[in-house]
Amino acid sequence: MNKMEKDYDNILNLDFDRKNWIPLTTAADFIFTDNRKRESLNGEWGFTPDVFQTVTRKQLFSLSDRDNKGRYVPMDLDFTRMEQVPVPGCWNCIRDQYWYYEGESVYARTFIYEKEKEDERVFLRIGAANYECRIWVNGKLRARHQGGFTPFYAELTDELVQENHLVITVNNRRELEQIPSMNYDWFNYGGITRSVDLFRLPPVFIKDFFCYLMPNTNFEKIEMKIKLSSEAAGQICRFSIAELGINEQVSTDERGEAVLRVSAHPELWSPQNPRLYTVALSCGKDRIEDLIGFREIRIQGKQILLNGQEIFLKGVCCHEESRDGGRTLSDDERMDIINTAKEMGCNALRLAHYPHSERMSQLADRHGLLLWEEIPVYWAVDFSNEETLLNAQNQMRELIMRDKNRASVIIWGVGNENPDTQERLNFMKQLIDICREYDQTRPVSAACLVDVDTMSVKDRLTEFVDLVAFNEYYGWYYRDYEGIDEILNNTAVDKPLAITETGAGAKTGHHGGAEELFTEEHQEKVYRKQLEYIDGRLQGFFPWILFDFVSPVRKHPMQGGKNSKGLVDLDKDRKKKAFYVMQEYYREKLHK
Ligand code: GCU
Repeated sequence: MNKMEKDYDNILNLDFDRKNWIPLTTAADFIFTDNRKRESLNGEWGFTPDVFQTVTRKQLFSLSDRDNKGRYVPMDLDFTRMEQVPVPGCWNCIRDQYWYYEGESVYARTFIYEKEKEDERVFLRIGAANYECRIWVNGKLRARHQGGFTPFYAELTDELVQENHLVITVNNRRELEQIPSMNYDWFNYGGITRSVDLFRLPPVFIKDFFCYLMPNTNFEKIEMKIKLSSEAAGQICRFSIAELGINEQVSTDERGEAVLRVSAHPELWSPQNPRLYTVALSCGKDRIEDLIGFREIRIQGKQILLNGQEIFLKGVCCHEESRDGGRTLSDDERMDIINTAKEMGCNALRLAHYPHSERMSQLADRHGLLLWEEIPVYWAVDFSNEETLLNAQNQMRELIMRDKNRASVIIWGVGNENPDTQERLNFMKQLIDICREYDQTRPVSAACLVDVDTMSVKDRLTEFVDLVAFNEYYGWYYRDYEGIDEILNNTAVDKPLAITETGAGAKTGHHGGAEELFTEEHQEKVYRKQLEYIDGRLQGFFPWILFDFVSPVRKHPMQGGKNSKGLVDLDKDRKKKAFYVMQEYYREKLHK
């Protein structure tokens, strides 16, 4: 680059952003942080939409506002005088001008760091940022992450001074090669949507552990897999579950890993009895603990067995959406979702169509709800793109790494309503392989499409999943109610079968004839007809959807920018007539 190009790099170099492309932070960088002492960086941060990526073009954060003679030079941004916004949060919800903004935005704040222990290591954790996120600390790029719904980490140990300047860019522009791709039926909220925290860890720490009841051991064997932050052999790890009288130790191998199996007779976790145990693990200077429920979820023929007992998944789907905060919810709002589902008589929730906050699975563990969790391989995706596959595989790994110790999570979903092509089959089989590689304790599934030519579920992916699941909207998109009856007559699988979406739109409080679209009466009739046809023929049922949700796809005046298939209004308060049809079915008909 000659001097002119160097001086004018930000306006002459089309490839300007490549200098900001350090290797992506991935699931390999996962650190177990639950219940660790965290220093929160949540609160008011400086913010600006950065439509032309001025900050990253000009590397503004590292340039002084003085020239080499100490004279002020004009700058395009003053970090000390930015708009203040709450983190976590979605910029769309801050003000009307930002509502539909899709592009890059800049967050900035300073924080004071005082070393507590000479050899401590300091890590930054971002709970989630939609979609591509980059982190500069004191002007140095430290992390780049893709994927809007899973946590990622950056080690800051060697970068920190007393007063530190943190600049985080987030770009939620939809791109064809992303996961999800360009088109989906939910709102594209942008921002640092979940918590930002610092953790101080010893030089060698417990990076990850997986603790579960081993399947097919008559509920009597607990396995614990431990991974240290370094390949340190011979490190003694102590593992205890006081209430079960377990106090064991094991030393790590040359990879810094260890596996421990102990006999135990834990009270089994279930929705009716969400029994959790405190599991403590220590190694050297590090000590962690987690609240874990021990249960077995297994597929046997066409049955789903929870702790050896056949269960029916009395489910419902939900998005992660706040009344006022977009994709950023409070625990109270998460409890609204859990309590409303339980009020309807559910024992299961499908967290559509992307990883919800880890708080959902922690609360579901505590309050007794089964969860289907999935990554947003949704509708059309660039299935022949290697980068896209790596992205999807990473998001799957990040979700499993994050929630694998949660008893409430019983199914990993690898996709939703994708076309049944060879590229897609190859792509999805590799996602299923990752689930099985990382977690042999949970079934894998995907919400498939119906083959309307043969009126059956014949998606080739069903051969590779443990639970066959499909979406159908007979009575709504297809007005003939009996379509679901035909599909069930034509679909013969030797695995459990679940409907993972069905339903109809209804404007809350809009009443009329049972054949009049968008009335509560029509939605009610669709549910009554669905239940009439599916009764006794499935192992799981997940109506779409518990609450209305915002979607730019839905422009019909009777929907007004939201998908109104909710059984409850967007306000998460006003229930529609169909809610009570489902409640009666789950509570009375399927009382077990
Ligand atoms: C599809 C899709 C959902 C969507 C729903 C609908 O099944 O999976 O994300 O919202 O249909 O049409 O309302």
